[in-house]
Amino acid sequence: MTSIRLKTPHNGEYDQPTGLFINNEFVKGVDGKTFEVINPTDETVICSVHEATEKDVDIAVSAARKAFEGAWRKETPENRGRLLVKLADLFEQHAEDLAAVESLDNGKAISMAKGDVAASAGCLRYYGGWADKIEGKVVDTTPDTFNYIKKEPIGVCGQIIPWNFPLLMWSWKIGPAVACGNTVVLKTAEQTPLSALYAAKLIKEAGFPPGVINVVSGFGKVAGAAIASHMDVDKVAFTGSTVVGRQVMKAAAGSNLKKVTLELGGKSPNIVFEDADIDNAISWVNFGIYFNHGQCCCAGSRVYVQESIYDKFIQKFKERAEQNAVGDPFHHETFQGPQVSQLQFDRIMGYIEDGKKAGAVVETGGKRIGDKGFFIEPTIFTNVTEDMKIVQEEIFGPVCTVSKFKTKEEAIKIGNNTNYGLAAAVHTTNLNTAIEVSNALRAGTVWVNSYNTLHWQLPFGGFKQSGHGRELGEAALNNYTETKTVSIRLGDALFG
Ligand code: NAI
Ligand code: MG
Repeated sequence: MTSIRLKTPHNGEYDQPTGLFINNEFVKGVDGKTFEVINPTDETVICSVHEATEKDVDIAVSAARKAFEGAWRKETPENRGRLLVKLADLFEQHAEDLAAVESLDNGKAISMAKGDVAASAGCLRYYGGWADKIEGKVVDTTPDTFNYIKKEPIGVCGQIIPWNFPLLMWSWKIGPAVACGNTVVLKTAEQTPLSALYAAKLIKEAGFPPGVINVVSGFGKVAGAAIASHMDVDKVAFTGSTVVGRQVMKAAAGSNLKKVTLELGGKSPNIVFEDADIDNAISWVNFGIYFNHGQCCCAGSRVYVQESIYDKFIQKFKERAEQNAVGDPFHHETFQGPQVSQLQFDRIMGYIEDGKKAGAVVETGGKRIGDKGFFIEPTIFTNVTEDMKIVQEEIFGPVCTVSKFKTKEEAIKIGNNTNYGLAAAVHTTNLNTAIEVSNALRAGTVWVNSYNTLHWQLPFGGFKQSGHGRELGEAALNNYTETKTVSIRLGDALFG
């Protein structure tokens, strides 16, 4: 069986594929293995899905290779775009089910899951628009040569995605890869395989030729490692932890030197100046850290507030954080659901304990909510020093630290005091401060008077140890194309 009927809360019901999606069919793994998918809200088993091992990765890569050399190579850019736009339309038609399965499997609040589905469709449609606009150029060098530079697909792309935005990461990866004419073997995170398999069903319905997009469920050390070290995968794109990002890069270097792009962690500073609109700033700081339960690579987890407004800020921010509705992700007013897994829950609680031991003060939160499901109170730490683990390391949960600064120079210095460089924000009503500070911050995205407002038209990615390459926007096309120079010798003059 490679599909089951699943019920969602509030009387929803739908067909959930459980197989590996290879060559447009849902199949069992060669070794017949399966693994359980857990509902983080109540810790029950939702269902089991088929697990890919190295052998299945081989089969999926062969399918992708065949499609790349065959049908997909012959497809016109116009039709590649048309298929992506069709897929985006199907996402919108199936939005209710997709959002429900995302909330069920990941635990994210249903209102946020709906936003993810809309953004996934937006991203796929955007890259559909790019498919027939990937152009080269002509370069004149000497009079007896005619040179043109063209962009070609890289080939078979392995894509390894995390569990925090299962559908959105699926779309960020598949959209640009396919628009540029590549074929794909995508591995989902073992914690959240369901929405990606549902979306795979839509790939077939959209009319993509078999083998162009293959989606497998499986574990990092097995299927993920097999993709990263595969000799017939031309490129690997990875989103996840910095530790695994390094392993992926090593695996690429140790195998066929496949191209690598990485979108890794962050410890992003959120800087509030005394001239900011304080209520507005607090709303964005709150959203910056607690959105998606703090499980965002770009989470604004280090909050720095200018001295003169610090006390007022803490009091208001604490009140704001305590108002966040935490609970059942299927309730429409819920803002924060459970963390994704027992492991992540334990990691976060470990950081909270560590912060307390190091002498930081818990202004609010710090505890588990209930005894079933992985719920954690929105947590604010104060009285922190820059060397504390909770200030230096990515917690990936609803936990932030707040400290003071005096001057703009100091804000820039502590803002940059991290190995990461994914995102940052500045809250101020002074245009000079906004521009000066955002110029000085070493981060791939800087928000001014907002936070987490990503858009598929805008590049996203990391400085420093937050990664390699940029996703989204026109920039992502660079991740998925090779540049070819063709130099034609004119006339019949002999060399020498
Ligand atoms: P992870 O990095 O282990 O998992 C991400 C993906 O990599 C998953 O699909 C996993 O199966 C795969 N993977 C794991 N080991 C692999 C290997 N050796 N070769 C190839 N693929 C492999 O992240 P994990 O353990 O789920 O979360 C740990 C921490 O990572 C989080 O607490 C957070 O700090 C960070 N993280 C960052 C994300 C981001 O968006 N940048 C997303 C998820 C986690
Ligand atoms: Mg892991």
